[in-house]
Amino acid sequence: MRSRLFLLSTLVLVGITTVTIGAPVEETIEAIKAVEIPQMGSGNLTLNRRFISGVPGLPQCPNADFLLLTSKCLDEKTIQEICVFPANPEVRSESNTECPDDTTCMDFLTDPIGGQEIPFALCVDNGSIKEFRKDRKASYLCKPYLISVTNGIATFSIIVYDAHSNPAKVYAIKFSSGNQSGTRYNTYNYSRIIDSKKGQKIEVCIETETNAEIELAVMFSYLDGSYISNGINK
Ligand SMILES: *[C@@H]1O[C@H](CO)[C@@H](O)[C@H](O)[C@H]1NC(C)=O
Ligand SMILES: *[C@@H]1O[C@H](CO)[C@@H](O)[C@H](O)[C@H]1NC(C)=O
Ligand SMILES: *[C@@H]1O[C@H](CO)[C@@H](O)[C@H](O)[C@H]1NC(C)=O
Ligand SMILES: *[C@@H]1O[C@H](CO)[C@@H](O)[C@H](O)[C@H]1NC(C)=O
Repeated sequence: MRSRLFLLSTLVLVGITTVTIGAPVEETIEAIKAVEIPQMGSGNLTLNRRFISGVPGLPQCPNADFLLLTSKCLDEKTIQEICVFPANPEVRSESNTECPDDTTCMDFLTDPIGGQEIPFALCVDNGSIKEFRKDRKASYLCKPYLISVTNGIATFSIIVYDAHSNPAKVYAIKFSSGNQSGTRYNTYNYSRIIDSKKGQKIEVCIETETNAEIELAVMFSYLDGSYISNGINK
């Protein structure tokens, strides 16, 4: 079953419209397009190697007899994948896939329908990623985006990288979109499946423990729809 989204009415930072004396200033929000993956968005898709093979920038098992179990971003340019031999699930392999030029590694979660949430990583085209940077003295930074999906569901990914392109833990990563919101603490990534529609606003925030001038890049992207896992590790 899909985990229901818990509601918090406390994120009041959403949708603040700046009003100067007499003149309302319109908030411009950047629109961002969904990551384009063939066959995404058409319902219960299975995350396994047969489905994704041949699509560049996706984790690949080194041996065609293996199925992808899970994957994650080792750094901005590298996916690490764990593969399993279906006939004997005890047999596993670990390998790395380098992201193609002009792509960045992003962490996602599968839909738990029929199984459990499984982390997987994709090399996402930079054109489908929005980024904001923390390079000044601020411990709380937010950025709103507009997302658009076709079937009512989006899977978003937020990941924080440091100046050396490595995942960087922060005190909290938050999102809020309409009546849905959530927070993950002490993490460098956050992925969730949310109800969505065309042109929906989502706000992404990070909170760090200090306001020191640490350089961080906060990346955001989303899939049109959701994957389910192949259930191999049930
Ligand atoms: C996806 O799977 C769920 C649960 O097995 C099922 O209820 C739903 O109808 C499926 N959706 C599609 C588009 O096949
Ligand atoms: C795309 O992003 C990666 C990693 O974030 C970066 O190394 C690369 O220079 C970017 N390419 C372009 C064309 O912006
Ligand atoms: C995020 O990071 C954690 C490690 O803190 C990892 O276990 C998890 O699989 C990652 N991916 C997602 C999508 O949460
Ligand atoms: C959240 O908002 C959506 C539409 O924006 C609505 O359909 C849904 O009922 C709302 N859920 C709750 C629990 O208020």
